[in-house]
Amino acid sequence: MMPRRASHQVAPLFTLVGVVLVLHAQLAFAKDESGVTTQAFGTHNGRSITLYTLKNSHGLEIEAMNYGGIIAAIRVPDRNGKMADVVLGHERMDDYVPNPPYFGAIVGRYANRIANGMFILDGRIYTLPKNDGPNTLHGGIQRTFDKVVWDAAPLNGKTGVEFTYLSKDGEEGFPGNLKVKVTYTLNDSNELIINYEATTDKDTPINLSNHSYFNLKGEGDGDILNHEIMINADRFTPVNQNLIPTGELRPVKGTPLDFTKPTRIGDHIEDNYDQLKLAHGYDHNFVINRHGNGIVLAARAYEPTTGRVLEVSTTQPGVQFYTGNFLDGTITGHGHVYKRRYGFCLETQHFPDSPNHPSFPSTILRPGETFHQTTIFRFSAK
Ligand code: BGC
Repeated sequence: MMPRRASHQVAPLFTLVGVVLVLHAQLAFAKDESGVTTQAFGTHNGRSITLYTLKNSHGLEIEAMNYGGIIAAIRVPDRNGKMADVVLGHERMDDYVPNPPYFGAIVGRYANRIANGMFILDGRIYTLPKNDGPNTLHGGIQRTFDKVVWDAAPLNGKTGVEFTYLSKDGEEGFPGNLKVKVTYTLNDSNELIINYEATTDKDTPINLSNHSYFNLKGEGDGDILNHEIMINADRFTPVNQNLIPTGELRPVKGTPLDFTKPTRIGDHIEDNYDQLKLAHGYDHNFVINRHGNGIVLAARAYEPTTGRVLEVSTTQPGVQFYTGNFLDGTITGHGHVYKRRYGFCLETQHFPDSPNHPSFPSTILRPGETFHQTTIFRFSAK
């Protein structure tokens, strides 16, 4: 029998440990009524990273974290109700540091390329860090939107999360204090709605996008060449050898970039066409057919074996269709090796290098204005 003295000491100790464990579990995993679950997901530069899981009434789930605003998972049903995660990604936050392919991230301040890491605005020359040969790709090197810690909070009364970030004047060479807000909302129509908002105190270029790599069969389950894709664009912006637009808006008709009718990605990807050779596949900005600034369908992708469909609608003027040409099997996720063309991106955006192309729709945000863009990813199966 245990001496009385000892049992008196042990009981409060157990109670204390129990309370600590329960509190810890509540802190590490909390769910509110709106379908948003939060989970501690590690730390970065001393700041805690939280994983937000948004779930709707059909069981569709989106996971996103405040490191880079990265969408880590999108679980959607196939035509038989079988769920799969349809974006390339990792299980642990640390695996996203670094994240050379920009899996799932918010890209900015300037998504896509700026030629020679340079632009002129209001008579001043601005130089940016170069990270893609002579170009600046996806905003620079150090404090780019994919690799900073955002402030985050679940949205009130919605299945959603809000990420905010202040990009300071001069950050990565860009002018102005830029206040950015990006929200992810999931509704019961199986739509993930991404809203981008920003204000500045100096004239500055801005181009924001999301860099998710989709494989509607399920991440890691082979390449994406068998997907059929429709892109609502009669023209694209051809590029030079540095993947910088030449300025031309070329009709897709008669080229392997004609996706105006649903076409298998693999059908023409190896055609002997200069633009495909330069980009090692599809890596081009398409000029979305639109009248006015509203939301229009930019693209639809269909995966025949699972029946999964992704529709992308947006307020943006362009969409970069990128077929994961630079994935080379050196990155793994969820135990799968991500090989060449294991994912495709539909990055809604302004045209690449717009600050150096006065004929392209302007990307300059001025004090007093608010930058607004919306992109909707809608999932279904047929
Ligand atoms: C670009 C690709 C690039 C990829 C990853 C895409 O937006 O168009 O050329 O390899 O991002 O950086």
